[in-house]
Amino acid sequence: MALTKRIATGLKTIASRRVLVPKRSPKRFYGHGIPGVDRERLSGKLVVIEGADGSGRSTQIARMVQWLEGCGHATVQVGLKRSTLVSEELERAKQGNILSHLTMSLFYATDFADQLENIILPALKAGFIVLADRYIYTLMVRDLVRGLDEAWLKNVYGISVVQKIQALDYWESGMDIGLSRDMFDSFLKYQALVETEFRRLQATYGFTIVNGERSVEEIAAELQERVEKLLEGR
Ligand SMILES: Nc1ncnc2c1ncn2[C@@H]1O[C@H](COP(=O)(O)OP(=O)(O)OP(=O)(O)O)[C@@H](O)[C@H]1O
Ligand SMILES: [Mg+2]
Repeated sequence: MALTKRIATGLKTIASRRVLVPKRSPKRFYGHGIPGVDRERLSGKLVVIEGADGSGRSTQIARMVQWLEGCGHATVQVGLKRSTLVSEELERAKQGNILSHLTMSLFYATDFADQLENIILPALKAGFIVLADRYIYTLMVRDLVRGLDEAWLKNVYGISVVQKIQALDYWESGMDIGLSRDMFDSFLKYQALVETEFRRLQATYGFTIVNGERSVEEIAAELQERVEKLLEGR
């Protein structure tokens, strides 16, 4: 009896949720794309959450997964340093400060490309909603702040699929680029640089900025509304 009641309550909850059938919307590549990948066949959706360390990305993504899967959508998650190809090596490389900015940049790009090819593109083809905990914009901003060439970066990340970007404020200390010996001072200077770069990219690519200084519920409600629009193809 208790079980029947629980099932009935569960069914009522599901029935009360608004079920959206995702509308197909065109995907683009950030640049030259990948030969042989047909954009028309990527029927899933890509939602990217960029944002500072500890800005609440995981919290919001976990809520989004619950909500989306509760509505019957299949989801998959990707993020930085999560590739099976190089994530462990990348983590080890980060322990020392021995690799050049360019080498580190290529390491991150490899980690991203592996996830793009083996997770993101197959999932989008299968109609999944891909939730990315950071994406190419964080990677590019970090490298731009470290003086790498923008045209070169755009070419490296030209393989990426892009769709919808949300950003929750900003991150980390940037001690490696020698802005200050004091970690807190370095943090402030680095954040200012990152924010400038992010705002510049925002002007070009039109990210949606979400105010992260609110309650978990308020942020989740805004994100839900925005993702609903994305699913409706608006
Ligand atoms: N809107 C919020 N208001 C207050 N605290 C929050 C909010 N969102 C998340 N938190 C809390 O802040 C901490 C960091 O959140 P979370 O792990 O989601 O951030 P993150 O961006 O994924 O961090 P990381 O960069 O370490 O992956 C957690 O303790 C979480 O409970
Ligand atoms: Mg997290």
